[in-house]
Amino acid sequence: MEFGEDQITRLLSLMRWRRDVRHFRTDPVPEVAIDRMREAVALAPSVGNARPWRVLRVESPGIRAAVRDEFARCNAAAAEGYAGDRRAAYDRLKLAGLEAAPLQLAVFCLEDPETGHGLGRQTMPETLRQSAAMAVYALWLAARAQNLGLGMVSILEPRRIETLLGVPAGWRFLAWLCIGYPTFADDTPLLHRSGWQENSEPAWEAV
Ligand SMILES: Cc1cc2nc3c(=O)[nH]c(=O)nc-3n(C[C@H](O)[C@H](O)[C@H](O)COP(=O)(O)O)c2cc1C
Repeated sequence: MEFGEDQITRLLSLMRWRRDVRHFRTDPVPEVAIDRMREAVALAPSVGNARPWRVLRVESPGIRAAVRDEFARCNAAAAEGYAGDRRAAYDRLKLAGLEAAPLQLAVFCLEDPETGHGLGRQTMPETLRQSAAMAVYALWLAARAQNLGLGMVSILEPRRIETLLGVPAGWRFLAWLCIGYPTFADDTPLLHRSGWQENSEPAWEAV
């Protein structure tokens, strides 16, 4: 397979317009779009080919409500860690789209999977989580390529989410994903726009 100039242009455009989305319409995500996101996840790289991610599609209104409550609790606790103008700015942020997102996925990473037989993670056990994070990014791009938005939520207590969903032992909570059609599109991160944290240029240097 050989890719041309237009492919990289379109890929970079997709990446520029990916963005973390917290404002969703409530109309459902087509099953065909969900299938494609699932396909993208399956194409992600992983250490030792362990494929340590597990995804639960959460439809239960009771569980969704409990997660909204958990988010409210964790977010209020996080707000307490700020003072003055920073606290006021934090309070103005919208940090999840849990109330509206029609598709919600809970992503987990296996703690010590048989798959991969330990290859590549003897000295770096964190590579399992790195692999699962790559799967999330693949899903994120596949969502955006279908005009969907995705918002990643980490303001949650992992153990509580694991208990709430009753996952098997060894599944560690990684992220809650809110997915749906965005109410508006933007090519700039909300945290940059709001002045919370402007985009900086991390190191990329020759040594
Ligand atoms: C691991 C991870 C966890 C995140 N958790 C949250 C979250 O809890 N709430 C939120 O609003 N955004 C969350 N985000 C989104 C980031 O705020 C966002 O990616 C960042 O501000 C850059 O914006 P962009 O994704 O639009 O480029 C998370 C992103 C990552 C990668």
